[in-house]
Amino acid sequence: MFEYDKILKSLLNPNLNKQQLAKLIGTQSTQFTSERTKLKNNYSDEDLISAYTSFYFPTNALKLEFLTEHLSEQMKAEISKTHILDIGTGPGTYVFAASELFSDALSFTGVDESKLMIEQANKLNNEYFQNPKIGFSQTLPNVDDAPRTLIFGNSINEMGMPAAFKIIKRYNPKFIICIEPGTKDVFKDLLALRKKLLLIDYKIQYPCMGQGTCPLEGIDDWCHQSIKTSLDFELESLSQVAKLDRKVMPATIHFYALNQIEDKSGKARIIRLKKNVKHAFLWDVCDENNKSVTLEVPKKLFKKKVVKQLEEISSGICVRYTIDKELENSTVRVKTIEVEGVE
Ligand SMILES: C[S@@+](CC[C@H](N)C(=O)[O-])C[C@H]1O[C@@H](n2cnc3c(N)ncnc32)[C@H](O)[C@@H]1O
Repeated sequence: MFEYDKILKSLLNPNLNKQQLAKLIGTQSTQFTSERTKLKNNYSDEDLISAYTSFYFPTNALKLEFLTEHLSEQMKAEISKTHILDIGTGPGTYVFAASELFSDALSFTGVDESKLMIEQANKLNNEYFQNPKIGFSQTLPNVDDAPRTLIFGNSINEMGMPAAFKIIKRYNPKFIICIEPGTKDVFKDLLALRKKLLLIDYKIQYPCMGQGTCPLEGIDDWCHQSIKTSLDFELESLSQVAKLDRKVMPATIHFYALNQIEDKSGKARIIRLKKNVKHAFLWDVCDENNKSVTLEVPKKLFKKKVVKQLEEISSGICVRYTIDKELENSTVRVKTIEVEGVE
């Protein structure tokens, strides 16, 4: 999506080598996952910000590209007519991603409470992206009356759901994109936000197929979305030195539109590949009635070439199917199936 060598040249500290970056990323990763009280330390000096920018920025950005691939042409066209605000932008992650994916949008503004993150984001724009429609701010900016899209990228996780909801109320956006970590705790927060948004006329467009209660409500689990990517050679090499896989990224992604709903009748969405056994795929899907079932999809329904293709897919794809047989544990064997985008 980006030119990785240009990102490395525009780090706040461009003199860190791969081993140094990998070590800093390792420290950050521990703080993100197990030492959450020390989270703010992750943004406390130029080296840590540079490490974040070398690793999490280009890989997180791919999650917006992934979501965009699952949006209708109409939704994408409408987002392109809005001001895009990225709340908790870090080094400008979803500002730069959005500026590539929705290049006609009215403006792209990244907001972050960390002064160093804003410095890093400005450096990337001044030296690499050089896009005059892009700006960054440490405080929430005023925008004109044109429609807005708000993006929260791994930031509700830090600011908390109530603070995020307050920002949503302030901007009254037409579209809301949440791209947050794939964990049970974050999922609970996003389900709470989902409930609040559905009460004030937002409609969830992705991943849910219906506007009802999530089948995971009250269950100690999350919906296991994951994104499969291929990385730039140097970035992959950094991830190997850091011993952190970014080729399969768990994530919780939700997309809302104000008062708009698209017809999804008869379709279900693959939420995750539960198992790939010799004769079948076991896919967890969610349907328009917010019912979650496991589909046992016999591989003999597809040509060999298609089976290979299907082995590569992750969550997000829509299917239409007919049932051959009801099995145990909310599982059904599929008789026929159409997989969107697959011949
Ligand atoms: C994990 S980083 C995510 C950066 C970027 N969105 C991404 O996904 O790569 C979280 C960012 O949110 C910012 N943040 C946390 N709470 C915030 C708040 N209340 N207001 C603005 N920014 C906040 C932090 O400073 C940090 O840069």
